[in-house]
Amino acid sequence: MLRKFLRGIFKIIYSLAIKMKAKSSTQNLIELRDVVKTYSTAAGDFTALKRVNMQIGAGEFVGILGKSGAGKSTLLNMITGVDHLSEGEVVIHSNGSPISVHKKNEDEIALWRGQTMGVVFQSFQLLPMLTLVENITLPMDLCGNFNPKQSRQRALDLLRLVEIEEHADKLPAFISGGQQQRVAIARALANDPPILIADEPTGSLDSLTADHIFEVFERLVTDQGKTIVMVTHDESLSTRFSRAMRITDGELASLPERSGAQSKGDNEADLNPKRKLSWWRRK
Ligand SMILES: Nc1ncnc2c1ncn2[C@@H]1O[C@H](COP(=O)(O)OP(=O)(O)O)[C@@H](O)[C@H]1O
Ligand SMILES: [Mg+2]
Repeated sequence: MLRKFLRGIFKIIYSLAIKMKAKSSTQNLIELRDVVKTYSTAAGDFTALKRVNMQIGAGEFVGILGKSGAGKSTLLNMITGVDHLSEGEVVIHSNGSPISVHKKNEDEIALWRGQTMGVVFQSFQLLPMLTLVENITLPMDLCGNFNPKQSRQRALDLLRLVEIEEHADKLPAFISGGQQQRVAIARALANDPPILIADEPTGSLDSLTADHIFEVFERLVTDQGKTIVMVTHDESLSTRFSRAMRITDGELASLPERSGAQSKGDNEADLNPKRKLSWWRRK
């Protein structure tokens, strides 16, 4: 009973903190202006994004809900610049100056992306032959912001942040899916990007593990000031974002703001207030 009450209080506090943080944000960090993406296929052209407009402020935790095939991954690929758009513009206002993502050349964009955005996928995509800590030092070494000694220490700090530092020298195959996703989040944070992009990051996890991973994202917004754009087909998450939108057949629409916190997660194990508090103790 008390556990359930405490869990409810924690979730309400997180939810309110995320929403207040988002409301206090004035500066647009990500802007999509009339973005169209048409794929050319053997069967003809297929328009996966239809004039999508979107503004995301610094410190928001934005959720984009949509069914399979709705255009979620396509939308994220436009934001990260890993794929070309057909029409429109994506502007990212990081480091004070606006960058039009699709006007950069491939080399420029790869370097810029590495420092501006961390990306987390449903399938984790850790390199199997590297240890967890090496998976995280790799993007740091590629970007060249940290020397090797610094990068190992930073990787260990990030593994501690996602509460998995005791496994630092293991290979990914020897930890669970939920643990691998924690490592993938730590890797996305390697170069301390202001933005995290997450493509169904909880999609292949059981609901309890998914809830733990979602909480890691919530803390990154409230404690680290990250801006997160997450796409998901999990409708139950909709009230936990600072703002939620829906994509249907390539068209984006806002979801009405619902007051109060969410109701998801009555699982007993997840009620453990000690686990919640461990985050704060370890900071
Ligand atoms: N490279 C591609 N070539 C042709 N069609 C594609 C390609 N990628 C995605 N699509 C189509 O675009 C639509 C949106 O895909 P996607 O963005 O992957 O959806 P979601 O991530 O919401 O499941 C789907 O109908 C899909 O089949
Ligand atoms: Mg997808």
